[in-house]
Amino acid sequence: MDYFRIEGGRPLRGTVGVHGAKNSALPLLAATLLARGESVLRRCPDLADVWTALGILSCLGCRVARTGEDVVIDTAPLCGSAIPDGLMGRMRASVLFLGALLARTGEAQAGWPGGCALGDRPIDLHIRAFQALGATVLDRDGRLSCRSASLRGRRLYLPIPSVGATENAMLCACGAAGVTEICNAAREPEIEDLQGFLRAMGASVQGGGTDRVVIRGGLPLHPADYAVMPDRIVASTYLCAVAAAGGEGELTDVRPGDLTPVLAALEAAGCQVRREPTRIILQADRPLRGIGALTTGPWPAFPTDAQPLLAGALAGGTGETVIRETVFDRRFRYAEGLRAMGADLTVEGTTARLVGRPLHGAAVEAMDLRGGAALTIAALGAAGESRITGLSHIDRGYRRLEEDLSSLGAAIKRVRG
Ligand code: UD1
Repeated sequence: MDYFRIEGGRPLRGTVGVHGAKNSALPLLAATLLARGESVLRRCPDLADVWTALGILSCLGCRVARTGEDVVIDTAPLCGSAIPDGLMGRMRASVLFLGALLARTGEAQAGWPGGCALGDRPIDLHIRAFQALGATVLDRDGRLSCRSASLRGRRLYLPIPSVGATENAMLCACGAAGVTEICNAAREPEIEDLQGFLRAMGASVQGGGTDRVVIRGGLPLHPADYAVMPDRIVASTYLCAVAAAGGEGELTDVRPGDLTPVLAALEAAGCQVRREPTRIILQADRPLRGIGALTTGPWPAFPTDAQPLLAGALAGGTGETVIRETVFDRRFRYAEGLRAMGADLTVEGTTARLVGRPLHGAAVEAMDLRGGAALTIAALGAAGESRITGLSHIDRGYRRLEEDLSSLGAAIKRVRG
């Protein structure tokens, strides 16, 4: 079993570039299905969830080719509408292919999507959006079958500003004649990136990044050449790593505006941050200070994906932080690993109380993607050696995390076991 061997407790110093965003690349890859022909996605990160998305496109008959960080997807040979269960079960974002397939072909079949076990993760809002736009959706023995002779635009209201449901509704609405209005839409930066790509394909989409997205559907779309936005959660990981270990780290290829809530929390913990248009320099003196209270929520609140990362950094600091998780109910699965490193962390339901104190290295297991990154961050700030197993979770969302952390000066190695 592969593991990370980390020698912690040494300050970091270095520079690292941030790769393209997984959570943007996945909806963009689904969106390529909307037009016939060759689209190019630049800065498309080379990591496991993206391989799954490319696998889905290949199974549907599309041709995919990667050169470095650029991926070319030719959707002209598209010949299917059924997504194999094996690929569907590997990640939750595979559900986005249903909206795009419905828009392009009027049908889609798939099993239920997988993904990190962060709690109950229903897809009822996605299904309701398809139905509202005129599709019938049947669940036969655990397989979803979606069909529509003609999709029609209309006003949709999302009771929760779900990122995936907003994206799926946008994709499906591109194939629906007339105007679709998505009310209480998610406002995450990735929604604006999807809007950018859809516009580059010739779609009429307004309001991405606000709570009201309007799509004029049924327009003929064409392939596009587009660069994926930088990954704000990967950037948060590097920032928290430097904060945990102390020292100075420079991140390039970032958009500081996408990191506002995370940078504010790190500043509250005592870090100094310099923001430039596409660069961030973070300087951290140990120990970090607890920040009192932190509540996750939809954008522009503190992102749930960065919550474990910040906890991993604060665990080895001083003072108290009470974390309230409002998006997913099983987001503290990293707690046991942090406690094995000596952290003072108590979890009750969706609230965790963390009191910073010096950590020591330990052998721990990643239970999910960001939880695994949190343990890696804590290990960088902990005295002595740590071993982290469960790397398949981490590899879903990071392109060779150990190489990027090494560029920041971390003593981390992937040991093949
Ligand atoms: C996306 C991100 C994920 C991030 C999350 C919240 C991708 C690939 N993943 O996930 O990294 O943690 O946004 O920022 O972009 N919900 C329902 N019914 C639905 C859909 C969602 O009840 O049909 C609930 C979820 O259980 C959760 C909340 O809505 O409690 C928000 O989830 P959502 O925004 O949909 O997250 P994802 O799109 O799955």
